Parts: sequence; C-alpha cells; structure tokens
Amino acid sequence: MDLDMTRRELLRLGAAGAVLGPSFSLLSSASTLSEETAMELKLVTVPQAIPEKVYTSERVGISRKTHDEHLKLWQGYANKTNEIRKALAEMEVDPAKANQIYSMMRALKVDYTFAYEGYINHNVYFETMGGEGGPATGKVAELINEAYGSFEKWAAEFKATGIAGRGWVYLAYDHAEKRVFNYIGDAQNSFPIWNHTLLLAMDVYEHAYYLDFQTARAKYIDAYMQCIDWDAVNARGAAVSVS
Ligand SMILES: [Fe+2]
Repeated sequence: MDLDMTRRELLRLGAAGAVLGPSFSLLSSASTLSEETAMELKLVTVPQAIPEKVYTSERVGISRKTHDEHLKLWQGYANKTNEIRKALAEMEVDPAKANQIYSMMRALKVDYTFAYEGYINHNVYFETMGGEGGPATGKVAELINEAYGSFEKWAAEFKATGIAGRGWVYLAYDHAEKRVFNYIGDAQNSFPIWNHTLLLAMDVYEHAYYLDFQTARAKYIDAYMQCIDWDAVNARGAAVSVS
C-alpha cells in the first residue's frame, strides 16, 4: 500500500468496495488496509433486487410493486449506515465537544442506530419472506409451542402485537431464558433488548402495505403470515444455536 495514501482515499476505497460487495453481508474494505482502518470502514450492502422468492407474496396480495419500492428504503438505510460510519471515522473526537442536548457525537450515534437497525430489520424481513406460511416448523415450532402453548395462540399474539406496534414486530430468541417472545419495536431503534436473536421481523410501517391494503393493516398481517419462510426462520435460529 502506498504509504502516502491519505485517509480520505482510504475511505473512498471502502465506499467502492460496498458497491461491488455481495448481498446480505457486511463487507470489509480493501484487504490491504490496516486492521484498524478496515474496522472503521466496514460497510453494508443490500441486494441489487429483491430476492425472487419474496415475490410469491403476490398470491396473497402483497405486490411486486410494494417490494420494489421497499427496496429503495432498504437501500436508504444501508446508505445512511455507511455515511455515518464514514463520518465517525473522519470525525475528530473531542470529549469536550460532546453534549447530551446537541452535539455531533450525539446526532451521529443516535441516528446510527436508526439507520443500521433499519438495515438489519429489512435484512431479516426479506430473508424470511417467500415461504408458504402456515404453522411453524422445526426447532422454532418447538420454541413457539413451549412459549405460547400452540402455534395458533402464538399467531394470534403476533398479529395483535403487529396491530399494537407502530413500525416493527419481532419474534426473538432470548439467549438468557432460552425462549422466544413477540416484541414491539415502534421505530427500529426503540425499545432495544439485549442478548436476543431476531427470528422474524415483521414490518408494519405503512410503506409495507398501504399500496395493497390501504389502512387495513390486519389484512396485511394475515397475508404476511401466509408468506413466512419457516425454513429460513429455522436457519436463522440454527446459525446461533437456539436451544
Ligand atoms: Fe420497511
């Protein structure tokens, strides 16, 4: 690596890597960068297109157009995640300038959670759509039955949580208590929970359904639940060894 390469040039390399990177993955920037710099410049990407299996939701009324418009928002969360990461990497950190009322550090850190968690939630949303819905399968079905008694009771609770939420509903696995629970997340960075793994993230922001169902969110939720890909949900659980 050219020892005279400026920090800004390194940042530009990181941005270029994001464009070329694979889908559904966090991407390290150029491998020749120092480890410290590479950590700073790790960027996120979204697919060029919605995964084809997701479009099978058209059979229950969630349209291709809705997903294609949704991709633009997903991309926006990735773009802003990367923008904030670059801003933090370039920022001259001075504790004397940090302030809880307003400061650049506060603005960047608060909005970073909105951007990055928006990116993460949409990853899970689209990763776990495009299936047949219906009763859960595999290990996740066992976890749902243990926590809620039956799939039907879980489904009713999940739907009600979705109607009560303002942006997101999660089925998440609690690693401490080794059980699943349906959580509300109004915005993607509200009501954080720790030591959990997201198994499902149902988007109930209006952009996810208004085009197809107008204000009838309950009908959208019914349709969404007929599109859950339980194999993908189980794969998410297996990746973190839910037990
Ligand atoms: Fe969304």
